Amino acid sequence: MKIPIVILVSLITMYVNVSSKTEPVKKEPVEKAVCVLLSPFNSVNGLITFEKLVKGIQVTGKISGLDTGPHALHIHEKGDIRDPKCLTVGGHFNPLHKQHGALEDKVRHMGDLGNINADEQGIAVFSFVDKQLLLEGPNSIIGRSLVVHSKIDDLGRGNTLESKTTGASGERIACGVIGYA
Ligand code: CU
Ligand code: ZN
Repeated sequence: MKIPIVILVSLITMYVNVSSKTEPVKKEPVEKAVCVLLSPFNSVNGLITFEKLVKGIQVTGKISGLDTGPHALHIHEKGDIRDPKCLTVGGHFNPLHKQHGALEDKVRHMGDLGNINADEQGIAVFSFVDKQLLLEGPNSIIGRSLVVHSKIDDLGRGNTLESKTTGASGERIACGVIGYA
């Protein structure tokens, strides 16, 4: 069967037009996110940024108003901070269903950022690069929350269920939503 050349050309033109129209829109890559930490109950406040580098996500922050010493820092599942005591943000962000751990552990919740250390003035300044955090895709940390706790995170090293799930980190003393920067 011979197809006349005119029809063939118009069919190809139609195909090209349709396929170029259905091509997905290319999204801008997400390079940076930010979280403002606040609490209506205490003086804890802070600013944390997440920046994409070739080697991972750089987390840089300063949190003030803390008691001197170590405090657990986690990304929790939801960005629902409507409860002033951060009780509506869910558990640790754990899309890969792993056990609680330390920042440098392979097996950990994605949201396990370990501990930050507040100085005599109650200020914690920190910066580290993490390979597990994501700013894009279904497991992105955008829209979730960052929580700082009253106590040290035992990094899952304790022999209790609490240690293996939350690091026995005590109360949530401040939280904020992680958003596009
Ligand atoms: Cu937490
Ligand atoms: Zn955890």
